[in-house]
Amino acid sequence: MNKRATFTDMAEGTQEDWSRIADEFLPFAAKLPLRVLDHLRLLDGDYGGFIVDRLTHSMQTATRAHHDGRDEEYVVCALLHDIGDTLGSYNHPDIAAAILKPFVSPENHWMVAHHGIFQGYYFFHYLGMDRNGRDRFKDNPLYERTAEFCAKYDAPAFDPEYRSLPLEFFEPMLHRILGAPRRERVPTDG
Ligand SMILES: [Fe+2]
Ligand SMILES: [Fe+2]
Repeated sequence: MNKRATFTDMAEGTQEDWSRIADEFLPFAAKLPLRVLDHLRLLDGDYGGFIVDRLTHSMQTATRAHHDGRDEEYVVCALLHDIGDTLGSYNHPDIAAAILKPFVSPENHWMVAHHGIFQGYYFFHYLGMDRNGRDRFKDNPLYERTAEFCAKYDAPAFDPEYRSLPLEFFEPMLHRILGAPRRERVPTDG
């Protein structure tokens, strides 16, 4: 049986077409954690001048958060916070934030989306930029949360001697957190 829609112009789609497409969506969405893992692995061997590669940095950030007692949602945010480095060369936090948005709290989403400018406190001044750029958010209730993420987990996660948990350790968390969107975060707001 043909499992594909038949329209060649979306303006001519039918209920039958869209029932077929809808049937495909859930199995596809359920494999998001596997696609995320595949994409994380693209960071393997990507040093960009740092002492550790970006996959090592990501696992180390997540491992530090896990060992510090953070919950699974936070640890998944830590693991994915730099996943946008491959395609978002100039705005990598936006990529991670967009992937995580349906699945995490508004607080964790904001933290991931803004971690770049907060992390900049540690290096922007070496690149001719203002290390205190994060100060524009100092009245935001999520300032401390995001500064803490960088101070405790992101900034220290460049230690080549640190023993990170393997990617396989985080895989069940990815399935639990990315397996289904939080009801209140199923958006139509673009
Ligand atoms: Fe980052
Ligand atoms: Fe990072």
